[in-house]
Amino acid sequence: MEGPHPGPLPGGEGEDCLVEAAARYRGNAVSKRSGFSVGAAIEDETGKIWGGCNVENSTYGLTVCAERVAIWKALSEGVRKFRAVAVVTGADAPTPPCGACRQILWEFAGDVPIVMATTAGTRKRFLLSDLFPEPFDF
Ligand code: THU
Repeated sequence: MEGPHPGPLPGGEGEDCLVEAAARYRGNAVSKRSGFSVGAAIEDETGKIWGGCNVENSTYGLTVCAERVAIWKALSEGVRKFRAVAVVTGADAPTPPCGACRQILWEFAGDVPIVMATTAGTRKRFLLSDLFPEPFDF
């Protein structure tokens, strides 16, 4: 994404930018094993957006979800503070992050707002703490 970002979630232009980025990254999904493509985008404290897609391989079990790919990219560039997450799938209804991703997002992004969107345009919003109460936090 070029230029300044309009701001964090929820709602409005900031949310639209994040969802659009997640939808774009969904286009890069390596998902022929499941046929289920996912895109994720995470906004850091400066407004920069980091995107990811799910990456599957022949072992199936080594699959990495879009959310983790996105946050690994940011963390590995030294980014440590985040303010919002978007997840886009082609499912009928918005799909929340899996349990493993909830743990990782909690540890590295904290109680961020998450918008889940379908490619058809349905959106659902949660705080991570709504999806992941009583976290393991060591
Ligand atoms: N997947 C994600 O990328 N994010 C999630 O939160 C749930 C699942 C991916 C993993 C796998 O490639 C496909 O969706 C089907 O489970």
